Amino acid sequence: MIALEPSVEELERMLAAVGQRIISHLATLAEQPASDLQTLAPEAVADPPQWGRPLEETLDTLFRRVIPPGVNSAGPGYLGFVPGGGVFSAALGDFIVKTVNRFVGLRFMAPGLVRIEWSVIRWLCQIVGFPCESGGILTSGGSLASFIAVYTARHNRLPADFLNSIIYVSDQAHVSARKAAQLAGFPAANVRTVASDAWFRLDLSALEAAVLDDKAHGLRPFMIVASAGTTNTGAIDDLTAIADFAAHHGLWLHVDAAYGGFFVITPEGRSLLCSLERADSIVLDPHKGLGLPYGTGCLLVKDLNTLYRAHSMGAEYLPVNTERHELPDFYEISPELSREARGLRLWLPLQLHGIQPFVVMRSTSTQRLVIYDKKLPSYSIRHSPNYLPIGSSHSPVERMKILPAGGGPRRAQPRCFLQTSAKSRRFSAPNVRNGPVPGSMAACFCSSRCPITAAFATA
Ligand SMILES: Cc1ncc(COP(=O)(O)O)c(C=O)c1O
Repeated sequence: MIALEPSVEELERMLAAVGQRIISHLATLAEQPASDLQTLAPEAVADPPQWGRPLEETLDTLFRRVIPPGVNSAGPGYLGFVPGGGVFSAALGDFIVKTVNRFVGLRFMAPGLVRIEWSVIRWLCQIVGFPCESGGILTSGGSLASFIAVYTARHNRLPADFLNSIIYVSDQAHVSARKAAQLAGFPAANVRTVASDAWFRLDLSALEAAVLDDKAHGLRPFMIVASAGTTNTGAIDDLTAIADFAAHHGLWLHVDAAYGGFFVITPEGRSLLCSLERADSIVLDPHKGLGLPYGTGCLLVKDLNTLYRAHSMGAEYLPVNTERHELPDFYEISPELSREARGLRLWLPLQLHGIQPFVVMRSTSTQRLVIYDKKLPSYSIRHSPNYLPIGSSHSPVERMKILPAGGGPRRAQPRCFLQTSAKSRRFSAPNVRNGPVPGSMAACFCSSRCPITAAFATA
């Protein structure tokens, strides 16, 4: 049994035992199945005993029986959706902050860690092209970031009685946008789902018709959620035209750039994401776009004051800030007070590896695809003008098969499946759609450890 406060010798033993298993997990990632759909034996997850179990036995159960079942989304064999990655130095950052366990809700409690987190936010603001009065907050993920965005926009733009205000999302927007609206107090009926065009981008004429119709009925158009990389196909909405439209109608523009936003660090991505900086708020998910472990989302706002106005609230036991400091108290610009120090999991990888490896990651593993020609096996894959380019590198995707599962109009959401055919290295992605031109299919993949082959891209 290990004491709650282990001795130095016990600490060394624990770190060595965990380290050895982590190393063997990482060293064998490429051979591990992309998915292992065996059922987890319930007895593997034991109830807590009165007095502790041996470390080795517990770690063995964890690494052999509890972790393997399911889908290995951090591994290179996974080809579905937009998974969180596994940059190891980010895990080290987490390990360090959880060991030192400093409180970052108030800057005086941990000024160094708050500065680290703020420096990361400033870097994120810089890459999206936000001005110096911008700011943001690291969250546990994109969904929470969108919720904070809608809540912030509501507090800054709407009166207390806001129930005649309308939010516009495209039919390709991530579900988190609608969920965020509801969490921020908007009934489902206040969220308009606007049609997308043939390339899965928000259709501006449909948006205009909806806004004008709402105005004619005495409702208050309030917010547009645009996508910079949709989950289904990777489409990027026409951000310039939408920003013009939002400015014309006085609407808050929120851009969901959860994974797509990070392509801004690549030359091709920069041009495809032009006008991103015209948003009022942007969601970025470093756990997707930078390949970090799950639990790293981010909301950026063009004007940091908007976060202060929405979230700042005093209490007897909290410090009174009479003037703005260059570093915020995070509790004043977000819903959370106690929380982990999230900055190190970004800062450490960026310091240890630099920015360029991430540029390479995003350049070689960009996997938003439009797939032409359903005839197997001679399919070909290309990208369209508003999709990010397909990268080139080695990959297991040449073993991938496209298995159409029904046709029909796009609106019927025909489901197809992509599978890697090698035994036990297989994962199905149900986000494949009928594509924009006859005989085409569209899908989106964005994995940090599974770059796509040049051969595959031009086959
Ligand atoms: C485009 C997009 N936005 C938002 C989200 C939600 O982010 P999270 O899963 O981090 O809450 C996702 C998740 O896949 C996404 O793909």
